[in-house]
Amino acid sequence: MNRKLIGVTALLLSIPFYAQADAVSDLEAEYQAQGGTNFNATAGEALWNKEFIDAKKGDKRSCTKCHTADLKKPGKHARTGKAIEPMAPTVNPKRLTEVKQIKKWFVRNCKWTLGRECTAQEKGDFLAYLKNL
Ligand code: HEC
Repeated sequence: MNRKLIGVTALLLSIPFYAQADAVSDLEAEYQAQGGTNFNATAGEALWNKEFIDAKKGDKRSCTKCHTADLKKPGKHARTGKAIEPMAPTVNPKRLTEVKQIKKWFVRNCKWTLGRECTAQEKGDFLAYLKNL
């Protein structure tokens, strides 16, 4: 392999890592602009494991209900039973690489779990927790 080819290969191999850093830091900047500060992995983990009671059905809900508490393992959808790929980016490099995807699921999953949309602070804390798993 000549040098140029090695350079190009190295560049291509590094793209997934940049992509992840970009999606997460873009969102962190957005959540900061919306009033979030000092995003904290411990707060994110606590919220991830916290149980909420659904106002209508009275059942207990948490992020772990579909994604499980061990984010290096596959999850299972609480309603449909469908498998969910592991959340930890170290196990599943596709995780947290697309802003659109992350936003869409934050909306849906916060509404289902907390009964409302998450605040900018909560979403920043979730990312702080998830991105280093
Ligand atoms: C009812 C089941 C369910 C619950 C509860 C749930 N999720 Fe999810 N989540 C999913 C599904 C399904 C997907 C999309 C499929 C996938 O990404 O594997 C997803 C995807 C995501 C993604 C997108 C990740 C990416 O790489 O794009 C994030 C972030 C996420 N969930 C966060 C949360 C948070 C935070 C909570 C708790 C507030 C939560 N989820 C609760 C089912 C759930």
